[in-house]
Amino acid sequence: MRFEVVHMREDDLEEVVAIEEMTGLNRWGYEAYRRELIANPNSVMLIARPADGGTWQRRDGGVVVGDCSGRRLLGFLAAAILFDEFHINNVATHPGARRMGIGRKLMHAAIDEAHHSGASYSVLEVRASNVTAQAMYIAMGYRTTRRRKDYYRSPTEDALEMVRDL
Ligand SMILES: CC(C)(COP(=O)(O)OP(=O)(O)OC[C@H]1O[C@@H](n2cnc3c(N)ncnc32)[C@H](O)[C@@H]1OP(=O)(O)O)[C@@H](O)C(=O)NCCC(=O)NCCS
Repeated sequence: MRFEVVHMREDDLEEVVAIEEMTGLNRWGYEAYRRELIANPNSVMLIARPADGGTWQRRDGGVVVGDCSGRRLLGFLAAAILFDEFHINNVATHPGARRMGIGRKLMHAAIDEAHHSGASYSVLEVRASNVTAQAMYIAMGYRTTRRRKDYYRSPTEDALEMVRDL
């Protein structure tokens, strides 16, 4: 599938929250994303969508899996630039569109934007058990710098802090 990464708009938020809810991320919810998008001039909010601007369906061997009618977003990323630091808050790919390069493309686009805005390094936290996301971050040059005890709730879990230069 051909896809593109563009800036998030307010009318993307319902689908952003739907993806957040199906991916097990710590819940931000609609209002928190909206605040970041509308009121934080330093936020970097991106979405991935099919390149033709239409909806998408997952096909396995030509068979459509599930009822995907009306689905438009493939993934999203929420981050912010604080002086020279670029903090990735959330990144997720729809479960039906994983391992197609969407997460990587979202990360690359966000890092490019932060770099051009003057950030010199990027930092993020990830659940210690989330080896999938850690694999993506390691593949993109992040390295673990410390473990933050009981950083997450529901369930309580340590975070790994990961950093890379931009
Ligand atoms: C982490 C996540 C965003 C990756 O998205 P994705 O679109 O599937 O990732 P990509 O296809 O761009 O993969 C990029 C690289 O990450 C690594 N990777 C991604 N998924 C992987 C997996 N299941 N196992 C091992 N490595 C993986 C690989 O190095 C991959 O490159 P490759 O396919 O060329 O080997 C996705 O799994 C997700 O949404 N997870 C749930 C939400 C989440 O945990 N977000 C992070 C919060 S900190």
